[in-house]
Amino acid sequence: MLSKSRVTTGLVKRIQKECMRLISTKEVIEREEKYAAHNYHPIPAALCKGKGVFVWDVEGKQYFDYLSGYSANNFGHCHPKILEALHSQSQVLHHTSRAFFNDVLGEFAEKVTNLFGYDKMLPMNTGVEADDTACKIARKWGYRKKNIPKNQAKIIFCSDNFWGRSLAAVSASTDPSSFEGYGPFMPGFSCVPYNDLKALEATLSDPLVCAFMVEPIQGEAGIKVPDEGYLKGVRELCTKYNVLWIADEIQTGLGRTGKNLCVDHEGVLPDILVLGKALGGGVYPVSASLANDDIMLVIEPGTHGSTFGGNPLGSRVGIAALDVLQNEKISENAAKMGDLFRKELNSRLNKKVVVDIRGKGLLNAIVINQNYADAWDVCLKLKENGLLAKPTHDDIIRFAPPLVINDKELNQSIEIIINTINSISS
Ligand SMILES: Cc1ncc(COP(=O)(O)O)c(C=O)c1O
Repeated sequence: MLSKSRVTTGLVKRIQKECMRLISTKEVIEREEKYAAHNYHPIPAALCKGKGVFVWDVEGKQYFDYLSGYSANNFGHCHPKILEALHSQSQVLHHTSRAFFNDVLGEFAEKVTNLFGYDKMLPMNTGVEADDTACKIARKWGYRKKNIPKNQAKIIFCSDNFWGRSLAAVSASTDPSSFEGYGPFMPGFSCVPYNDLKALEATLSDPLVCAFMVEPIQGEAGIKVPDEGYLKGVRELCTKYNVLWIADEIQTGLGRTGKNLCVDHEGVLPDILVLGKALGGGVYPVSASLANDDIMLVIEPGTHGSTFGGNPLGSRVGIAALDVLQNEKISENAAKMGDLFRKELNSRLNKKVVVDIRGKGLLNAIVINQNYADAWDVCLKLKENGLLAKPTHDDIIRFAPPLVINDKELNQSIEIIINTINSISS
């Protein structure tokens, strides 16, 4: 195994030794704030090491990671099989571009399409690129297959959607903090309320609509779970009006909600499935849009692409991530642990302080009554008590630990959450 080579072991030891105590949290924060743009507002934990469900800061304090790198680390920090794939492929062939064939992309594409039931995948890197790709495929399909007049295709999104930070993504956003100051915006985009099939039907009947893009659970909006039957209804309406259903499973996919895909809870198949985040095992950006040939083949050579997308390194990591998902029964564990998590929180949290507990699998959130505390202050207290989580809004905290969490780790982290929140006076 390459990871056992003296060079690699020496490097790991050096990084571990250097990161612990040679630099303080204060110094890490000051340097980052001085030289890195202020486009995030991080919880003040300066991390230097991770393993499984745990991370450590530069002073050696251990935390439960209840964010999982925004669900990229579904399989935990430094999963040995994913690291092995990363190390071994990086020593052989890491990047070629798709100007040539490589011996790994086909294997990855075969695996991902077989697993999720599509003819083809189009590989990209980050989530926003794969969502943007899905929109491009849908527009082209609209012109070629639905005979929408040139440049008139419309794509419908939901209020409070989140699919990234590009100009197209913020053009679809209803959140001023995402779009304010970035106009002019992409034409042909509009929104309907989430979880509202009537409003959706009224929009889809417009013959200029080529696609409806939606998250099966809205993540950044604060873990908004739609009513049972919503996804089935979306499938039926999209079929009825000959509109492509794009499911953005970048956050909900790959075990996060207790199934391999969140749409599996209702047994429905979108026309275009978008995956990202955990597809790269948390170690490399890998994303993909999946569709059947009648849709995907509207994209022809030279009409779309990416320098890094589909390279051997990302493809090898993607194969390893999917192997872990399947072989380690990740979705089953997320379902079981998620049920336990919500049951404990529901029965033990002070309901004056926490007004809602919701989610599926290990994608959960609590809503804090702001008369007693706000989500940011609660996250600071959780940090002091050894658990890292991040607010999604002033009153909502997302709880999304790595899906490899076991009973003991889950129970320990539940105690931290309950003790922290129940110590808030009400
Ligand atoms: C549902 C969803 N789609 C797309 C994205 C964008 O992914 P990325 O940040 O990798 O571009 C995110 C990121 O949080 C997301 O939650």
